[in-house]
Amino acid sequence: MKKLPTITMALVLMTATACGSGDSSGSDDGTITMGFSQVGAESGWRTANTESIQQAAEEAGVELQFSDAQQKQENQIRAIRSYIQQDVDVIAFSPVVETGWDAVLLEVQRADIPVILTDRSIDSADDSLYETFLGSDFVEEGRKAGQWLVDNAEGEVNVVELQGTTGAAPAIDRKEGFEEAIAGSPGIEVIATQTGDFTRSGGKEVMEAFLRSHDDIDVVYAHNDDMGLGAIEAIRAAGLEPGEDIQIITVDAVEAGMEALAAGEINFIVECNPLLGDQLMELAEQVVAGEEVPKRVVVEETTFTQEEAEAALPDRQY
Ligand code: AHR
Repeated sequence: MKKLPTITMALVLMTATACGSGDSSGSDDGTITMGFSQVGAESGWRTANTESIQQAAEEAGVELQFSDAQQKQENQIRAIRSYIQQDVDVIAFSPVVETGWDAVLLEVQRADIPVILTDRSIDSADDSLYETFLGSDFVEEGRKAGQWLVDNAEGEVNVVELQGTTGAAPAIDRKEGFEEAIAGSPGIEVIATQTGDFTRSGGKEVMEAFLRSHDDIDVVYAHNDDMGLGAIEAIRAAGLEPGEDIQIITVDAVEAGMEALAAGEINFIVECNPLLGDQLMELAEQVVAGEEVPKRVVVEETTFTQEEAEAALPDRQY
């Protein structure tokens, strides 16, 4: 560490005392400004997540600077740099991919702005680069999907996998958890796997290609509802019955996915809760006040069979 000249050190100490130790900033009237970099608008889950954050910010009186990165890491890095320029009180973001964040987060750290990771985490050896990570356990979601298949599979089962965005935490972790769960079942085999980028059009396109090259598909494991809904379109176009000729397992449980599940087109959904807004605003208030927060906050989630989806649909919030 560099040695500061005595006079500079005195000034630093005075400033620290004036602000109250550990306290970030916040405007004079106490209003917190949050810079938030969203992944994009790729799925129903993402739309629900964005609405939850915007609504929670409004209710909490947090001034939200929101940007949509359109699934591009460079756009997120640019947004984070602009939040440093604006000297916001806290930066929150959902990293589109896991790696490549250290440099920009070091810049944020030098600017003394706390960072909250939400929804997706980063792959970094330095966990001092962020205060907390609020989001789902994606490996566990993958395990739940795989376990349902293990419990319901009969004989040889050929699975095709529609992966999320390459390099994204939920794509990596949901694949890992699923593989872990089916590892002890030699009859279950993943015969093809490819990214559909978490979009409905991506899921449809990849499923069409799978159907052209394989005539023995029993199950689709889609890393989100949107890709599963795209796969349904491809399966129907191929003259097959989704949910019967080919079973479908997805993750998210957004409204359109739950409707397809209740209608018998999807067979099982693992929930991933997008309503993170209120918890995010609470954490933001705490970190800006210099309070200790848990390094990891895991969101509680469930799973849905077709019957459970029908019962749950009237009360679903997203
Ligand atoms: O990071 C959460 C995932 O991102 C959701 O499961 C998916 O729908 C979204 O695009």
